[in-house]
Amino acid sequence: MRAATLKGAQRALMSACMPAPVAARARTLASASPAVCSCSYSSTSSSSSPLATLGSSLGLCGRQQRPFARINSSSSARSRRALRPLATAAVEARRGPAAPAKDQVLTSDPANNVTEYIYSKMGINLHHQPNHPIGIIKQAIYDYFEQGSPGVFKAFDDMYPVVACTANFDEILIPADHVSRSPNDTYYVSADKVLRCHTSAHQAELLRTKQPAFLVTGDVYRRDSIDATHYPVFHQMEGVRIYGPADWEAAGLEATAFAERELKSALEGLAKHLFGDVECRWGLAKHLFGDVECRWVDAYFPFTEPSFELEIFFNGKWMEVLGCGVMEQVILDKNYGEGHKAWAFGLGLERLAMVLFDIPDIRLFWSDDDRFLKQFKAGDLNSKFKSYSKFPPCYKDMAFWVSPEFTENNLCELVRGIGGDLVEEVVCIDNFTNPKTQRTSNCYRITYRSMERSLTDEEINGLQARVRQGVAEQLKVELR
Ligand code: DAH
Repeated sequence: MRAATLKGAQRALMSACMPAPVAARARTLASASPAVCSCSYSSTSSSSSPLATLGSSLGLCGRQQRPFARINSSSSARSRRALRPLATAAVEARRGPAAPAKDQVLTSDPANNVTEYIYSKMGINLHHQPNHPIGIIKQAIYDYFEQGSPGVFKAFDDMYPVVACTANFDEILIPADHVSRSPNDTYYVSADKVLRCHTSAHQAELLRTKQPAFLVTGDVYRRDSIDATHYPVFHQMEGVRIYGPADWEAAGLEATAFAERELKSALEGLAKHLFGDVECRWGLAKHLFGDVECRWVDAYFPFTEPSFELEIFFNGKWMEVLGCGVMEQVILDKNYGEGHKAWAFGLGLERLAMVLFDIPDIRLFWSDDDRFLKQFKAGDLNSKFKSYSKFPPCYKDMAFWVSPEFTENNLCELVRGIGGDLVEEVVCIDNFTNPKTQRTSNCYRITYRSMERSLTDEEINGLQARVRQGVAEQLKVELR
């Protein structure tokens, strides 16, 4: 059933959501990039269309370790929204002309769990800003692929971020019961449409356009925890390259072995291009070259076999920066045609940029403070972020008896919606179960800190009071 009906569904999605055929929005890296480097990808159609637009955890894998929790998305969405501040004029000013219309994203559909806060991030398109770290790293990756394979890769970076569930999940073989489909993890616009949670959502659609190699950059959306490396909106780049029998025969290799070899060499080359003297060895637990420690680990993704992840050691922790593998044959056969082999990867631009530019907190990418923005320049991969000031954190703890409906993602969504980017971290610091009543109490520590100014007690107390009220009213828990 999948091949025929999904094609139909996908066409319907494209005509409903997309301003122009995919082919019209692609740019060959070569033609857009005369000198191969530092070209700026001005969008081909986004400015002319009100609908064309935009773009971690790379967390499909992270999520697999989490419980598959469900919330009553309709009632919680309504009540959460009541607490959201409306998008300010400043937010509106940052949106590009191609931001999705509000009524296409914040709908009264019972499945809708998108918030004002999330909508306020749509259309900003950090990857379209040439002097922004996200724009710089996108361009550096485009340059790398163009230099290695001139004229081969086509770049897409204004694909519409609202996609059909078929595209986000089914067409790339994400099982019906996979945790990433939960409204606890993903933003639903309606029962059959989501804010893409990864750029892999465009894989099948682009395969059908018969592009033999492409890169897709965009903003992606996930309900998730709050800390220095997690933010509910971030940017990914998807890369795909397809080969024919002549390619693996010339190399004297079997097709999968050939694709795997090409994938590894492409991504190791990319790591060197970005980080200089770095070598990422497969199978080693930990390796230090130059300034960056990285390791490859075996992974699982529903859409690749075999699958791998690249992790980089950053600020005391291993941080996953990309997932990749040899594309599941059925995806390629159905959407591109039989007799081929392909590799694919998906990488998190914020995380790579954090390592490259030494940016300690993912919230900084959303800052419009010149003290941040003026530190970076298109084409310059060598600048290191200099912290302009350190303001003290303010910790607030809150404990409550949890209920079966409670999830940490709902708590984080609520806290972010009230405290915005002043919230640095939300972490469970204690929990216990009363042996008599069997009720469980969790204690969360919320860290508030601005990267731009000192916060007053009054301001933090006001935010915390609203958080407490929101938690009690919306999360169906009992404050202690
Ligand atoms: N879509 C995955 C995620 O967001 C990342 C990924 C893994 C993309 C493997 C790929 C791939 O194309 O082959 O977690």
